[in-house]
Amino acid sequence: MAELRLPEDSRVTQGKTFPAAAGAKNRRFFQVYRWSPDAGETPRMDRYELDLDKIGPMVLDALLFIKNEVDPTLTFRRSCREGICGSCAMNIDGENTLACLKPIESIKGAVTINPLPHMPVVKDLVPNLNGAYKQLEVIEPWLKNDTPAPKDEERRQSIADREKLDGLWECILCFCCTTSCPSYWWNGDQYLGPATLLAAQRWIVDSRDTHAVERLENLDDPMKLYACRSIMNCTQTCPKGLNPAKAIAQIKKKQVLRGAK
Ligand code: SF4
Ligand code: SF4
Ligand code: FES
Repeated sequence: MAELRLPEDSRVTQGKTFPAAAGAKNRRFFQVYRWSPDAGETPRMDRYELDLDKIGPMVLDALLFIKNEVDPTLTFRRSCREGICGSCAMNIDGENTLACLKPIESIKGAVTINPLPHMPVVKDLVPNLNGAYKQLEVIEPWLKNDTPAPKDEERRQSIADREKLDGLWECILCFCCTTSCPSYWWNGDQYLGPATLLAAQRWIVDSRDTHAVERLENLDDPMKLYACRSIMNCTQTCPKGLNPAKAIAQIKKKQVLRGAK
């Protein structure tokens, strides 16, 4: 059984190994980050050897098998199992993605699973996203319109205006993009990050919203918006195929067009 290789300066130690059941034919190791800060533990990587013939095809299936059959102490978030809720976001094989959409067979060799990077860890694969949600509040992600709503009717939108929301409304707020962004790693206390800025653009372009200028003024800040350096990790990693870097570029362009500093 090969030893897990960790960087020499890693704070993470090698943890326990759980071998597969006798007779398992289709074996694969899953190396999973384990840490319970409240318990005063040192972070470690536990290794679980699973029989792929006994589990479903996705990385989330492997985690559920571990939790249900091998080690109930393993902690992670999940809900929909369909790439809709965003809760199973984690770093798999070096890439931020959704465990429920990541096929095990797309990974060669041992599958390494860490929590989303550069976020405080609550336990194991569960990051503390309170700061990211607080930042989302800053852009006021709801429809704002000062005119009275039409009587007994929704606020209507043309097909062309509705299409402007495509590529924006689909965001599931998994924060894979935000936690892959070097600018966010360095300035996460001030830079809003790609997930929140994509959400901002979703409301700025909504034809039913009358607060676009106010929204742009709110973002006209060297750190909130302009800390984006167009590195594009966000777009590279989005498991929903969205393009947060483009949304950010569009907000910057709107700032130029309206004559912002
Ligand atoms: S394009 Fe901007 S938001 Fe996206 S990863 Fe780069 S710096 Fe971060
Ligand atoms: S843009 Fe993509 S990666 Fe970012 S939060 Fe939305 S769905 Fe997740
Ligand atoms: S469990 Fe909901 S997105 Fe993966």
